[in-house]
Amino acid sequence: MSCCFIFSVNVVILVLLVVAFLIILQRNLLNLNDFLKHESAEAAPGALLPFEPDFAIKHKPDVIRTGVEIPVVITAAEERLGAALAAMNSVYRNSKSSIVFNIVTLNDSVDHLKTWMSKADFTGIKHKVIVFEPKILEGKILNDPQKKDEVKPLTFARYYMPMFLPSVEKAIYLDDDVIVQGDIQELFDTNLKAGHAAAFSDDCDSASSKGIVRGAGNQNNYIGFLDFKKEAIKKLGMRATTCSFNPGVIVANLTEWRIQNITSQLEQWMERNVKEDLYSKTLAESVTTPPLLIVFYKRHSSIDPMWHVRHLGATGAANRYSVQFVNAAKLLHWNGHYKPWGRLSSFSDVWDKWYIPDPLDKFHPIRKHSEDK
Ligand SMILES: *[C@@H]1O[C@H](CO)[C@@H](O)[C@H](O)[C@H]1NC(C)=O
Ligand SMILES: *[C@@H]1O[C@H](CO)[C@@H](O)[C@H](O)[C@H]1NC(C)=O
Ligand SMILES: *[C@@H]1O[C@H](CO)[C@@H](O)[C@H](O)[C@H]1NC(C)=O
Repeated sequence: MSCCFIFSVNVVILVLLVVAFLIILQRNLLNLNDFLKHESAEAAPGALLPFEPDFAIKHKPDVIRTGVEIPVVITAAEERLGAALAAMNSVYRNSKSSIVFNIVTLNDSVDHLKTWMSKADFTGIKHKVIVFEPKILEGKILNDPQKKDEVKPLTFARYYMPMFLPSVEKAIYLDDDVIVQGDIQELFDTNLKAGHAAAFSDDCDSASSKGIVRGAGNQNNYIGFLDFKKEAIKKLGMRATTCSFNPGVIVANLTEWRIQNITSQLEQWMERNVKEDLYSKTLAESVTTPPLLIVFYKRHSSIDPMWHVRHLGATGAANRYSVQFVNAAKLLHWNGHYKPWGRLSSFSDVWDKWYIPDPLDKFHPIRKHSEDK
């Protein structure tokens, strides 16, 4: 009995040794594979889309991730799924930190999103899918049947971060039309002053804003977003020339957000707007901005300008920024009409580096040369 027991223990040890050896061998082969990526079958030229200039960058092998987990909230709208995934890919590959993505989407897109996220490129990327229920916005947004497409429920997801992340203190919100080139840890480390629930990028004092909206009204200050002729706005005693901020990138203290009931304050301003029409008639940027401007008036911290380089989607963005400046930016935001997955965008080559093609083949970046064919 005991002889056989010892014998079988030896066999078990032997088997374990062989398995360990095979694992090490395979690891080494995999590393070699990464090294020789462009020669592997996976990266055969036929598998590359014509607009993918740099296969190696976005498929960088994973690193060992340490430190406190960074919660990132991003929305994924069906028609822009490719954008959210490119943004996440860029965040993940440029950081050594542990990150968890909280992807807010509508029920109809969950399957598509999950299929896409199950591609090998996203292996190891921690994420949760959160289903946004547009019912929550009832009575808070104008349902003008002629403008039905204009009010996108997911753009309001940022108002509800504490609800999505019930046990989180600090979190980052990112619009889907961004690419991150720095380590997101730096953005996460943005210092929020005591009593501030959020940090944003101000529209006046950054490299992004100089001369951007010349001739386009007052899109750098509060009067570009709110109707200062309305009693409800006047009563707040805010200066109309106060510099506005862009809520496409937010570093939030959700503890403070809860203490101040920021979400219900925002909802109240949405409801009042439905009744009293408080937003500026020339509102060019997101309809989510005006309530944030009111609630965070003189009560928010600032994000490093290089961590929110904006207006890449505006007309003439290519003339405004040098290639060197765009390369040095930590975060690029294509706010404006011309999205980097569209035909007329500036710096779409930067975005292409992070785009992972849709396995269901529904989302397609529009590129000049695909039109030529
Ligand atoms: C969500 O979508 C699934 C199918 O993807 C469907 O079965 C389910 O009924 C939907 N739920 C709601 C609340 O619409
Ligand atoms: C967040 O806000 C709470 C409440 O004001 C404060 O105690 C905490 O230190 C803040 N945390 C961070 C990371 O700023
Ligand atoms: C936040 O809401 C709670 C309950 O709705 C209320 O008791 C509290 O006074 C509110 N706090 C602020 C600062 O408005």
